[in-house]
Amino acid sequence: RAMEIVKELEEKCATPTWKLKLVADAMTVEMHAGLASEGGSKLKMLITYVDNLPTGNEEGLYYALDLGGTNFRVLRVHLGGKDGGIISQEFTEVSIPPNLMVGTSDALFDYIAAELVKFVDQENEPPARQRELGFTFSFPVMQTSISSGNLIKWTKGFSIEDAVGQDVVAELTKAIKRQGLDMRVTALVNDTVGTLAGGRYANSSVIAAIILGTGTNAAYVERAQAIPKWHGPLPTSGEMVINMEWGNFRSSHLPVTEYDFALDAESLNPGEQIFEKLISGMYLGDIVRRVLCKMAEEACFFGDDVPPKLRVPFMLRTPDMSAMHHDSSADLNVVGSKLKNILEISDTSLEVRKVVVEICNIVATRGARLSAAGIFGILQKLGKDTMSNGEGQKNVIAMDGGLYEHYTEYSKCLENTLRELVGEEVSESIIIEHSNDGSGIGAALLAASHSQVDG
Ligand code: BG6
Ligand code: GLC
Repeated sequence: RAMEIVKELEEKCATPTWKLKLVADAMTVEMHAGLASEGGSKLKMLITYVDNLPTGNEEGLYYALDLGGTNFRVLRVHLGGKDGGIISQEFTEVSIPPNLMVGTSDALFDYIAAELVKFVDQENEPPARQRELGFTFSFPVMQTSISSGNLIKWTKGFSIEDAVGQDVVAELTKAIKRQGLDMRVTALVNDTVGTLAGGRYANSSVIAAIILGTGTNAAYVERAQAIPKWHGPLPTSGEMVINMEWGNFRSSHLPVTEYDFALDAESLNPGEQIFEKLISGMYLGDIVRRVLCKMAEEACFFGDDVPPKLRVPFMLRTPDMSAMHHDSSADLNVVGSKLKNILEISDTSLEVRKVVVEICNIVATRGARLSAAGIFGILQKLGKDTMSNGEGQKNVIAMDGGLYEHYTEYSKCLENTLRELVGEEVSESIIIEHSNDGSGIGAALLAASHSQVDG
């Protein structure tokens, strides 16, 4: 019976190339629909008001806040202007106390502002002019300008009712004032947009950015004329960065299982972020836990009793799943100790451990292959999926996030799948570049190019 469950999982999670192409086509179609009208698609295709990416001329001292990934960061970046590059950068990193992720807007923003004040207090000498800040806020926001926007909904582990619909820059600004600090927020960006900006600063061939971390999302540079829902003035660059919010993508072609349905139903945001729940770091480990739990319940996979820890949501985290998946020891020691220490399942046989690794592999492979299909969908939308766009031209995709960075089997699989989808020849022109913590720097760069005080 246990092996039947695994076999069924494998079948339901299958992502043959033809299916991935259907997913990619659906992504391309939804991109068009989301650009055509507000509410035209599950893909929000949000206008970011970023119509100029960093050029390298940005100069001065800027701050950034980065909220929404595993850790909350505060940064100070000293930009050297033309040919000067980044002269120095410092940052501090803290985790957001879990109770603040589901509390009130004021409590969250007061906490953030207090961390900002602590960081600013360590400054050697105060700057001559008002301090300016780029705010990376990694949730869907309907922007009203480069430095304002209302929260559409929370995603990932956050759920703070009274913040929904509010202007997050206004909330942050009020909290900064309450702390007695004089600082102005001049850019509000999603982490994908920050990563795109930071990526472009480092490499002018960057056309898109993907986050694969706790959550997942993509941003890319679109022609302004290809955005029918944009009624504002045409930017002189002719371009506009779009925050896709691809985590909310869904399609009948997505391979979903009973475990995914259950995970979704019990989540903080049922019915939302379906693509994200199949591929991102917050959820992969919990899918594996759900499969193991069913095997324990229906096939006594871990003995007569169901190990109680298997019934605890999010008990198995994706980093632990990754560690088990990468276990290369002959007797799968790592798997054995993770099962024991985290799930309190001791004395597992080698056979059992092998099956656990297989389940990790099935779940991670599905996620990685689906994210490659998403990227292929973007390349199709941009017409970069064929050889027609110039000999030798490189298209670089900036990537960041803990899942991409640490889960090697996942990132390898993603890259192989993308090659499979675009074909050997085109794949030479598509380059995936890890843009480590680029989103904070990107936010600082955009704060600089939208500075409101005279230098
Ligand atoms: C970080 C970026 O490196 O990756 C953040 O600076 C981003 O802006 C984060 O949100 C996403 O990854 P994770 O794994 O922390 O969710
Ligand atoms: C979630 C958020 C999105 C963010 C992504 C990665 O999908 O909604 O805004 O970019 O996570 O952090």
